[in-house]
Amino acid sequence: MKYLISKNTIQKVFETALVEEVIGDFVQLKKSGSNFKGLSPFSEERTPSFMVSPAKQIWKDFSSGKGGTVITFLMEHEQYTYPEAIKYIANKYNIEVEETQKTAEQITEDNEKESLFLISDYAKNHFKKKLNSEEGKTIALSYLKERGFNDKTIEKFEIGYSLKKIDDFSSSASKSGYKTNYLEKTGLTIVKESNNIDRFRGRIIFPIRSMSGRVLGFGGRILGTSKNIAKYINSPESLIYQKSKVLYGIFESKQSIVKEDKCYLVEGYTDVIKMHQSGITNVVASSGTALTESQIRLINRLTKNITVLFDGDEAGSRATLRGIDLILEQGMNVKICNLPKNEDPDSFVSDKNLDEVKLYFEQNSKDFIVYKASLLLNESNNDPVKKAGVIRDMVESIAKISDQIKREIYVKECSSIMDISEQVLYSTLAQIRKQDFNSQKKKPKKIFEPISIVKGDKNKREVNALYELEKKIIEILLLYGNESIDFEEEVFSQNEQGISETNISKRSLKVFEKVYMDLHVDEMEFSNDDFKNIYFNIIECFNENKEISIDKFMNKLSENQQLEVTNIIMDNEKYFLHNWEKNNIYPKSKKNSLSQLTIETILNLRCFLIDKKVNGFKDESLKKNITDSVLEEVVNYSNLKKLLSEKLNRVL
Ligand code: CTP
Ligand code: MN
Repeated sequence: MKYLISKNTIQKVFETALVEEVIGDFVQLKKSGSNFKGLSPFSEERTPSFMVSPAKQIWKDFSSGKGGTVITFLMEHEQYTYPEAIKYIANKYNIEVEETQKTAEQITEDNEKESLFLISDYAKNHFKKKLNSEEGKTIALSYLKERGFNDKTIEKFEIGYSLKKIDDFSSSASKSGYKTNYLEKTGLTIVKESNNIDRFRGRIIFPIRSMSGRVLGFGGRILGTSKNIAKYINSPESLIYQKSKVLYGIFESKQSIVKEDKCYLVEGYTDVIKMHQSGITNVVASSGTALTESQIRLINRLTKNITVLFDGDEAGSRATLRGIDLILEQGMNVKICNLPKNEDPDSFVSDKNLDEVKLYFEQNSKDFIVYKASLLLNESNNDPVKKAGVIRDMVESIAKISDQIKREIYVKECSSIMDISEQVLYSTLAQIRKQDFNSQKKKPKKIFEPISIVKGDKNKREVNALYELEKKIIEILLLYGNESIDFEEEVFSQNEQGISETNISKRSLKVFEKVYMDLHVDEMEFSNDDFKNIYFNIIECFNENKEISIDKFMNKLSENQQLEVTNIIMDNEKYFLHNWEKNNIYPKSKKNSLSQLTIETILNLRCFLIDKKVNGFKDESLKKNITDSVLEEVVNYSNLKKLLSEKLNRVL
């Protein structure tokens, strides 16, 4: 039970939403032939490479390779989950969202969650208002101003203030009808025997938002400094706020993180906010704790590149370094940038212009492995025992990287930094990876692919050839499936003397019928599961509608399958991006050679599969005694292959 939105609603959403309308809210689109084009929202560019097809209801971004349906656009651009994207469109087009299949407990939990969300939103607005109250203005707003927060920034991050009065928020929320039970569950109200009191009193309030922008919880800072009270208090864990799963700033930064393909990681609320104010908008904070796996996964949805900004004084404590191994494990590229002594990102950006800041980050970001190597080496002070420990520590980090090429590069670098032979590093690496792999085996999900999976180039080539052939068939079906063409057919007949002869006759068929029949006759199956499913849907669509209209089945495909379909169709449209049609230089219709293309592809696939079968028999026969029946099969297949090859030659 993955999505709880009813099928009916999802179908309505797909029927109603117009991809060009929805995307048009985010990207300026211009009509171009039968398509729309615009500047890619996923990269910086000056000539449009982003294309939307109203006819097919799909989009493709040629600069980043992304593409798909209206839903995938929202998931990529807004980082919505699937249900969030469906709900967004339902909301835009006033479609009622039916939810199904929920158990009673789920309904209660959902209602409870929804109540907590509503209260959090109410609270955010309450605190914002109070920042502009008499008390707020005189002590809180002035404090923010003194620290250099401007009005735009305060509005962007919806910073607020909680009055000193013991129950200002709680009593106002109660009066507005919010139930004490739920107020307590958000942690905003602390229920005492005699009365209810506010958790946040006399503090600057930072709302913490989810990826999609809903307020989950709050951080509250005291005004100024004090030794006796905690500088920050935060919302306690609740149904909607789990500290380990949120990153401060993710909502405000997500688009910029995707665009820059990089995420800065800092520690505090004020660091994120001040960096935004200075013009660096791809930054999130772990809020003072070590980064967790869920947080890394959140970033991983947006980019593979993280640059950690270390405060000048805490540079490279062992604990922080260890946290970073976790990032490497998730296949991300990590850089470290040390700030000057006594500076944190907030103070660092406050007295510099954007270019200065950017230049500093550029010049001082070091690759994590290199950073760690030199740091640890300094610590070991050439003590041989310590140095051995350092080397092992380093290799442990390298072992977390799943990309073999990257690992090798790092081994080379470490070897030169630490003045130790590559060979020693490699053998330590092999040891550690073996250990890790053995312990990984017990877990269901592996991080490392055992190297032996790739058995050699030959296998890889085979897989690629098969992939390309299967893709070609899907391509033929998607682009030309409905065209009628004359296929040559061999008709076997017996003449008057009873001798069989073959005649070539022409027969007009739809391309999809031809493909279907040929594959069916041979009982050929797609080896690639994605293509298999796409094929199944295409054929079903032809059978039901007598024509191909991909919007009839796109929403039944997985994300990856949608991308395959989009790529095939839009690659064919690519020429229109540059007004090439006007200049008459785009390739002419393939129709003349269409029957040839179709036949050839199917024949190639058949030959390929036969080769594979025969090789399979050969392998088999090496192990066991060759039985007559196996031999017979080989001969049969070899003959068939010969026949097909001849046909193929004739076609060519
Ligand atoms: N933090 C916390 N509780 C504390 C101290 C810190 O939750 N008692 C978290 C906050 O999320 C804070 C982050 O750790 O933003 C970093 O702490 P710190 O650097 O001390 O705070 P800053 O964000 O730099 O705040 P300021 O500049 O206002 O002192
Ligand atoms: Mn600070």
